Amino acid sequence: MSFSKFYNKTREERLNILTETGFLSEESSKLFANNSPLDEAVANSLIENQLTQFPLPMGVALNFIVDGKEVVVPMVVEEPSVIAACSNGAKFMTPKGFTTTIHERALIGQLILTGLEDFPAAKKIIEEHQSELIAQAALSHPSIVKRGGGVTSIETRILNNQQGQPEFLTIHLIVDVKDAMGANIVNTILEGCRPLVESWIGGSCLMSILSNFNDHSLVTATCEVETERLTTATMDGQLLAERIVAATRYAHLDPYRAATHNKGIMNGIDSVLIATGNDARAIEAGAHAYASRLGHYGSMSNWQLDGTRLIGELTLPMPVGIVGGAISVLPMAKANQELLKCQSAEDIARVILSVGLAQNFSAVKALVSDGIQKGHMSLHAKSLAIHVGAVDQEIDRLAALLRQEPTMNSVVAKNLLKQLRD
Ligand code: MEV
Repeated sequence: MSFSKFYNKTREERLNILTETGFLSEESSKLFANNSPLDEAVANSLIENQLTQFPLPMGVALNFIVDGKEVVVPMVVEEPSVIAACSNGAKFMTPKGFTTTIHERALIGQLILTGLEDFPAAKKIIEEHQSELIAQAALSHPSIVKRGGGVTSIETRILNNQQGQPEFLTIHLIVDVKDAMGANIVNTILEGCRPLVESWIGGSCLMSILSNFNDHSLVTATCEVETERLTTATMDGQLLAERIVAATRYAHLDPYRAATHNKGIMNGIDSVLIATGNDARAIEAGAHAYASRLGHYGSMSNWQLDGTRLIGELTLPMPVGIVGGAISVLPMAKANQELLKCQSAEDIARVILSVGLAQNFSAVKALVSDGIQKGHMSLHAKSLAIHVGAVDQEIDRLAALLRQEPTMNSVVAKNLLKQLRD
């Protein structure tokens, strides 16, 4: 497919290419071209105290092959270099691309009970009444059951306080929400089940709410690259691969580094979440909780060497949706689903994990070789040009001059702009 020199094309040309290659319909292309600010009624219905709309740029990451299919990935992000790094990372994985696995797809709703006389007895009652609880859940949200979803199983846990005494009984309802984001479905079911549970075991329900630590929605992406492809003018590919592996081992050991390593992964993931109308905050929370599941916070990704093959793996909870929440009312989210050619929530989850892995690969590869500033500052040149007042064609011309400078800052940029204008 010809995305050659996509970055050099005008916005109109890029949209034409995507329409001609069948990734976008004429209608969505027009929507993108006209910037489609949200309908006033939609904006007012989504949030409170709505004042205005806050534009962020959206671009596409290229070179993605996910489970054998070519994917164009919409990303909404304000940080220069994220999309370039992501596309560049994905290129190293071609032609095989990324392989993904959906381990399971279900949400978790928590009913948290306290003030119980006998915790083990209460736990047993819930375990013995599982089918009645599932039936009550179905009554509380019949439409999800009609669509083939609903509560599929129940888990119970007793949590002790610091003195080692049981203080809470937590019931997890595992809910199949089909292709929805599902938060409202789960919370409705929980509130519908709550009085029944209290009537069986006494005590009181402290609260009921969906859990964002969703280890029932794990998705894995893997990829591999022959180390010789990593060889640069200044570094041997095998050595670079060893350094990527060491950097990941380090991120497993040091939470100070893990947070930054994982931020790089979330750069890509959040950008696609926003572009598809998903709740990025929920996924962030779940991802970081999952990265702490072993008792300390570590790297979300793994990179290993098998001879001359560098193998990457990323597993995270990814309970995204293609309907429900804001998705159904955000036209751009719908158009981006079309761009992604996704048929199901699982399709989006597969792409998102691949994007996270590509983003991580690029960041760590740069960090253990040239350092991040070289590429970053080169892409930052345009923002800097705008920041110091460049307009229209001046932006590209000033950015090009800035890239030739040993140091790039606003003083240098202002001087160059003055020279350009003189
Ligand atoms: C910057 O947005 C992201 C990085 O800091 C990620 C990393 O350090 O791995 C470059």
